Amino acid sequence: MLKGKNIILGITGGIAAYKSVTLLRLLVKAGAQVQVVITPAGKEFITPVTLSALSGRPVVSEFFTANTGEWHSHVDLGLWADAMVIAPATASTIGKMANGIADNMLVTTYLSAKAPVFVAPAMDLDMMAHPSTVANIERLRSYGNIIIEPAEGELASHLVGKGRMEEPEEIARVLDRYFDTVDSLAGKKILITAGPTYEKIDPVRFIGNYSTGKMGYALAEEAAARGADVTVVSGPVAIKAVTPAIKVIDVESAVEMRDACVQLFDDVDVAILCAAVADYAPAEFVDHKIKREEGDPPVIHLKKNPDIAATLGERKRPGQTLVGFALETDNEMDNAIGKLRRKNLDMIVLNSLRDAGAGFGTDTNKVTIIDAAGTVTPVPLMDKHRVAAAIIDHIAAE
Ligand code: PMT
Repeated sequence: MLKGKNIILGITGGIAAYKSVTLLRLLVKAGAQVQVVITPAGKEFITPVTLSALSGRPVVSEFFTANTGEWHSHVDLGLWADAMVIAPATASTIGKMANGIADNMLVTTYLSAKAPVFVAPAMDLDMMAHPSTVANIERLRSYGNIIIEPAEGELASHLVGKGRMEEPEEIARVLDRYFDTVDSLAGKKILITAGPTYEKIDPVRFIGNYSTGKMGYALAEEAAARGADVTVVSGPVAIKAVTPAIKVIDVESAVEMRDACVQLFDDVDVAILCAAVADYAPAEFVDHKIKREEGDPPVIHLKKNPDIAATLGERKRPGQTLVGFALETDNEMDNAIGKLRRKNLDMIVLNSLRDAGAGFGTDTNKVTIIDAAGTVTPVPLMDKHRVAAAIIDHIAAE
């Protein structure tokens, strides 16, 4: 898919710049025209001679060529590109991009780019975890930039953690997949449930769970990036959709979530039920704060909540795709397949709390996708955004 594509490869000043040479080679080998734009600091790590020899084009770094006075137009470059990828992206460049500080050719070109921008951060783990970096990366996401999450591993400092630039082969694959799937879901309406439900006990207490909505919102962002019309029915979460086109309907309880889903379902092509819905709710809501008393503690009687997945499974018409999740702690595969069948799902995404880094609250997940025909596809532990991409790939291929 990269053949004939015009790609700007932005390189900044980090140790991982040496990997950009491999990325450049991979892109050129795949048939792309690559224009390298490098920051002054980037040149301390890798020479423009190497990069121009491999790309077959002079490397751009300054606004002017000093001896001829030739001006390098960031505007023309921005219009020329089908994609821009900044790899490695240092904390400093990410900060400048997030705040529009256009003091070098790379950031100026970024601000002029009309094409999608991919950002592959690389830095030490503490810099990566700093609230300033986290906020700047979130801001880039909100601008529609695609973050290629750094991997965990040994860093240049010899510390081990998150901050290693993703491998060039994977970055090339992300670009290739982008061109393959862009607009692949255009015109499709997708309903996604996310987060927990809260079942009220009294005005100050509820039954809930640890879901943060990260997995569901990552699915929503991924589907929206591929052109789908996305509505999220969301339980109470602290996160927000960064893509403005995503519609969010806030609900609290399982009954409210069921009602919102039933109202939307007939009109959608795909529903992905990622929410952690409480199976039980207090049989009665006590309208005042239950007081601590002497003697035996109060007993809370429970009633069954509606099963949203099963309700939608009964209403499903030909042509609709219904995807559920299964969160298990034991007997994972059998339980997931049981849910797939009982709820009339087309696909189920199994995650197990026995896998470190999977399930509630984490930035990562490890899942197994099982479809109605019994095909089993394991997806390794990765950032939830990349897991979301793998799940959406699967749905798009249905
Ligand atoms: O939000 P995060 O912190 O990122 O965590 C993500 C997650 C762990 C919540 C997510 O990956 C996940 O596993 N979601 C499903 C959790 C769950 O409730 O699984 P379950 O096995 O209990 O339910 C099976 C399926 O039935 C799910 O699609 C669920 O949405 C649905 N269900 C469950 C109960 C119910 N009353 N109605 C339902 O529709």
